[in-house]
Formats: sequence, structure tokens, C-alpha cells
Amino acid sequence: MLKVLSCSSMPRSYFLQPKACLALQKDVIHMHAVTGRCTKVARNINMERLRNNYLFPEISARELEHIKKYPNAEVISLGIGDTTEPIPDLIASAMSDYARSLSTPEGYKGYGDEQGNKALRKAIAQTFYKDLAVKDTEVFVSDGSQCDISRVQMLLGSDMTIAVQDPSFPAYIDSSVIIGQAGDFQYNSGKYRNIEYMKCGPQNHFFPDLSNTLRTDIIFFCSPNNPTGHAASREQLEQLVEFAKENGSIIVYDSAYAAYITDESPRSIYEIPGAREVAIEVSSFSKSAGFTGVRLGWTVVPDELLYSNGFPVGHDFNRIICTCFNGASNIAQAGGLACLSPEGVSAMFSVVDYYKENAQILLDTFASLGLKTHGGVNAPYVWVHFPGKRSWDVFNEILGKTNIITVPGSGFGPGGEEFIRVTAFGHRETILEASTRLKSLFP
Ligand SMILES: Cc1ncc(COP(=O)(O)O)c(C=O)c1O
Repeated sequence: MLKVLSCSSMPRSYFLQPKACLALQKDVIHMHAVTGRCTKVARNINMERLRNNYLFPEISARELEHIKKYPNAEVISLGIGDTTEPIPDLIASAMSDYARSLSTPEGYKGYGDEQGNKALRKAIAQTFYKDLAVKDTEVFVSDGSQCDISRVQMLLGSDMTIAVQDPSFPAYIDSSVIIGQAGDFQYNSGKYRNIEYMKCGPQNHFFPDLSNTLRTDIIFFCSPNNPTGHAASREQLEQLVEFAKENGSIIVYDSAYAAYITDESPRSIYEIPGAREVAIEVSSFSKSAGFTGVRLGWTVVPDELLYSNGFPVGHDFNRIICTCFNGASNIAQAGGLACLSPEGVSAMFSVVDYYKENAQILLDTFASLGLKTHGGVNAPYVWVHFPGKRSWDVFNEILGKTNIITVPGSGFGPGGEEFIRVTAFGHRETILEASTRLKSLFP
């Protein structure tokens, strides 16, 4: 393993000897192509502790290597979970109309409410939390749920313990390391110290064994989960809420893929009685409306959620939003409002249905190969099991034989070993071509 040295970890004398500093930077240059003189500013110890985000860069590096070796290869990516289908016209038109009106004296608007446009907050509460007692004022509109995960971490601070599903979306752990909640990364276990990894696999119906889970202040929980595609059942979420109540913990519930749920699984944590006292929910327009580039999401902080001293968490979150954010783009919010009109909702769900048909094609493909799959029904991700194999080896084999990029499950935590994730985001012809190639891989 390459040891990365930083100038800040060097003796002070190096700051007075730029040449020596540069010499020592060679390792760093190798990895980051950095040149120049060191400042006297020490690197944030938490950034230093953060393991290199190797997953997607490593996938890109392997893709490039493959293309170099096989220049005529037509590579298909079933890797990164980015949407591909156009935003429905009525939603895009609402944004372009709003943007045009900004060029007129009557239509121009400057800053809006930091918490979001009142009509949009109301529409979010009524559309996604109908009958769940979520008030407009508890909804904070944002530029996406990933940004809100970091804002929630800033709200909570470094003095917190956290638990995550294993495997999980990397932002929970990375933001935890950045804010200073985690200890060092342990290469032998693939885990950070001070983070509770809750293993979620087929052996436990993708739900942690809570009787063996340590109490933490915060529990990040994502359903439907990225990468496994598993949507937690009502019974599972009832157990989770009960566990949080017993322990006096706060759940940060990520429902970014809730629009993909077709069965009885809850779409929001607030469907579970008592969740308002223990849960924050972060969510997004990214994967339902194709807003990955537009940027729009929201966070719900219920009034009943209190710190140990009785102070409402929502008051502090409001302060974070006002200090560190200043409100989502008014153009994106116009798009969000259009998404939540009756026509917008049906346009949004027809794109979701399209991706779900893609997922079904992928599920059928892997099933025809005799492979065990998970997810794909309530989520745009299919989680494929290759018992006894290392996920990077499977990634290499599939790329080498079919020119298809997947994501090795171990990139989402040690619990992802033996699995790969394939995304159902993609044009239909690409998914069909991928299916044909995969069928030839294991004839
Ligand atoms: C589980 C999960 N949460 C949040 C996000 C980020 O969403 P946004 O685009 O709203 O920041 C993603 C993106 O892939 C995700 O998979």
C-alpha cells in the first residue's frame, strides 16, 4: 500500500526548506499530481484519516486500462447510479419558464426563504407524508440529500457515535470521518474504529441483528438501500424505531429511493408509530425526477425530536440551514413544484416505471444464469451474489469478458464482499445489450 505523506505531518523545518518539502511530496504527487510549495497550514486530521475514495476512481482506472488494452471494446456502464432519461417536459418547462421570468422586472426574485419556498414545503408534506402528520414547517428544502447528510453531521458534531448498515452508501461513513466521529481505518477488517457496522445480508433479510448491535447516538438507515436494493419491511422498521427509543438514539433515515417501492414496505419512517420522536428523514428528487444534476432534496425534522436536555433538534437544524446553506435554487424549486402537480407526479412515476422495467430485465438475466439476486423490485439496483468469490474478481471477470462495468460490492463496506451492484439506470437498448452480453458470459 502506498503511504501518503502530507507536508503537515513533516517536521517544521521542512517548511523552511521547500526543496525538501517537494522531495517528500513525491509520493503525494504520484497520487494527486500536486506540485508547489507547502503552506504552514496543517492538514485537517480528519481528512488525513479519511481513506482515499478509491471506489469510483478505481473503477474508472480499470475501465481506462481495459479500453487501452481493447481499443475497439464498446464498454457499457452499469456502474455509477446516475439517471439517464430526460426530465419530463412539463417539469423542465416549469424551470425554463421560471428562469426566463428572472429576466423581467416583475418576475425577478433574489434570495428566498432559507428553509425553502412555502408552496413547495407544503406540496412535499402533502405528497410524500399524506396522513403522517408531517407539518410544512418541519420540511427543509435543500440542494439534495447528500448535502443534507453532511449538514446533519454538522448539526450533531464530532462527539457522536454512529451506526451504519453494512453495506451502505459511502456518504454516511465519509461524512462521519470528516466531522471527527470515527477512529482510524482498519485495513484488516475494512472498517473504521468507533463506527458500528450493522451487517445486512441475505442471511438476516438485510436487517441488522439489533440484539448484537451496540448503542450509538445516531443510526443511519437507508431504505430502499443503496447498494442492496432491499426495502425494509414494516416489521423491520418497527424494530428499528423501538431500538432507537430504548437507546435514546436518533435515526437518520434516507428515503432517496422511496419512489421505487411497489410493495407494502413503508415509504417513510414516519409510517412507523413513534418515529417522530426518534427520526430525521432525508430525501431527494434526484432518482425520482432525474434531478441528479438539477439538485433538489429535503429533510424532515419533526417538532417532537428533542435532545437529552429537551431542546428541539429542529431549531438547531434551522440554524444550520440559515448559516451554512441559504436555500435551494429558486429555479430547481420551481421544477420541484411542477413535479408535485398531479401531471408532474404521473410523469415522474412513468420514468421510475421505465427504470423498474430495466431492473426486471436485469433480474431475469441473472436468474436465467442461475445466480441469486436481491433488490431490483423496490429499487433501481440489483445486488448479485457470487458465493465464495471476491467482488473485485467478479468485476474484472465481467469487464474482461463482456465489456460491462459493474460496482464491486466491497466498495460499500466489508459486508458487500461476494456481491456486485448493477444499476437499472440506463437507456433500454443499453440494458438489453448488457443482458445479451451477460447471458453469453455464463452460457
Ligand atoms: C442512498 C443515497 N442517498 C443520497 C444520495 C444522494 O442524493 P442527492 O442527489 O439528493 O444528493 C444517493 C445518491 O446516489 C444515494 O444513493
